[in-house]
Amino acid sequence: MKKVMLTAVLASVGLMTVGNAAPAEDGAALYMKKCSICHGPNADKTPIKNMKPIAGMKAEKIARILKFYQDDERIGHGYSENMVNSTVFLSQKAIDKIASYVSSLK
Ligand code: HEC
Repeated sequence: MKKVMLTAVLASVGLMTVGNAAPAEDGAALYMKKCSICHGPNADKTPIKNMKPIAGMKAEKIARILKFYQDDERIGHGYSENMVNSTVFLSQKAIDKIASYVSSLK
């Protein structure tokens, strides 16, 4: 009986860990798939001149910018069509996950 209980506790701890870790991993996976080709795997590359790397930028700011691009409302640096195409299919949830992941990079 004791053994069964312990197994159950361990299993739920395992589940909790997975549950907590998932959002960050999702953000990383999404970033790798959707953004890294232009912004670099560590978000420290710049796709165009006169732009700062996006790593470490505030999450709210990134989310807001992505939403602007998505709605095709941002002119930015004159190359915003790249970003419109990269954000058009993202859900708000995906945007938030990517934003918090990128902001955690340095
Ligand atoms: C096809 C290449 C490409 C992809 C893919 C791409 N970007 Fe960009 N990104 C750009 C370019 C080019 C700009 C500058 C656009 C402009 O003129 O406003 C930019 C601008 C940005 C900016 C604004 C930076 C600033 O200082 O103004 C952010 C934030 C950003 N990208 C994040 C992302 C994220 C997050 C993703 C993944 C969802 C992504 N980008 C995917 C090329 C890309």
